[in-house]
Amino acid sequence: MSAKQRKMLVTSALPYANGSIHIGHMVEYIQTDIWVRFQKMQGHRVHYVCADDAHGTPIMLHAEKMGVTPEVLIEQMSQEHQKDFADFNIAFDNYYSTHSAENRVLAHDIYLKNQQAGHITTRTISQAFDPEKQMFLPDRFIKGQCPKCKTEDQYGDNCEACGATYAPTDLLNPCSVVSGATPTKKESLHYFFQLGHFSDMLEKWIHSGALQKEVQHKLKEWLTEGLQDWDISRDAPYFGFEIPDAPGKYFYVWLDAPVGYMASFKQLCDRSPEINFDNYWQAGSDTELYHFIGKDIVYFHTLFWPAMLTDRCRLSKTNGRICTWFFDGQ
Ligand code: MF3
Ligand code: ZN
Repeated sequence: MSAKQRKMLVTSALPYANGSIHIGHMVEYIQTDIWVRFQKMQGHRVHYVCADDAHGTPIMLHAEKMGVTPEVLIEQMSQEHQKDFADFNIAFDNYYSTHSAENRVLAHDIYLKNQQAGHITTRTISQAFDPEKQMFLPDRFIKGQCPKCKTEDQYGDNCEACGATYAPTDLLNPCSVVSGATPTKKESLHYFFQLGHFSDMLEKWIHSGALQKEVQHKLKEWLTEGLQDWDISRDAPYFGFEIPDAPGKYFYVWLDAPVGYMASFKQLCDRSPEINFDNYWQAGSDTELYHFIGKDIVYFHTLFWPAMLTDRCRLSKTNGRICTWFFDGQ
């Protein structure tokens, strides 16, 4: 009796090229690796890919601090990560980087398809700005005194001393973590992905049987609350991919990060003529896609990601599969 051979593409969440792999990461990779080995031993065709998640403000600033270019930093981190994975016998079929030509092409393609379909909008928003460093500041790059208990040196969203949560604008004596300057407010044009356009699709997808019960419940909650536009642009200076026809605007790291799954698989396909890339990323094929992730990034993988892919992919169809594996590491 021989069971049908399944074709599965499996991914693990891409580690940031900003720090070392720790045991919390390893927990996820080891569990996924065990699952992949099991599926391979069953005789299925399984491809297990991963990559470094190489873009974003923290990586850019980290490189600057070390006196190297981001390219040099991410290359060093990639070597270190791959050595650690090898030491733990994690058997990826390919390991790549989101800072790659393949990823740029795929991210542009996905973005342009969404733009042509009318899912991208722009509007001006006002944000914290470091006047010395001449850059916009993400929340975690602003520190100050807790407005409630007055403890110094607290981050922009919550106080470690008293547990209060607040907006960065509520901090007393706010200062930029980058330069120490007092942040000002500055306006700039941002690009938004209109997630709300996909609520019907996502509603159906939730009930397709592709998701774990726990994830289904969480998604229902998010859909009931209503889906907000997603800010997918960041202003220069930023280490990432420039947005087509938008000089000085870059894709937010989370736009091209999951595309990195595709890019890593693309690189594998390009050296393995027997694997057909499109077969894994188009509707109506008999392949299965599994993303192993931690629970902190469920929103990105179950709302933004399938929505972004609707125009070129299969996740919106009921045969799509996203498997999420919870862990509390990170
Ligand atoms: N680097 C992210 C994190 O550590 C995970 C990225 S997964 C991907 O939280 F979807 F973006 F690829
Ligand atoms: Zn406090």
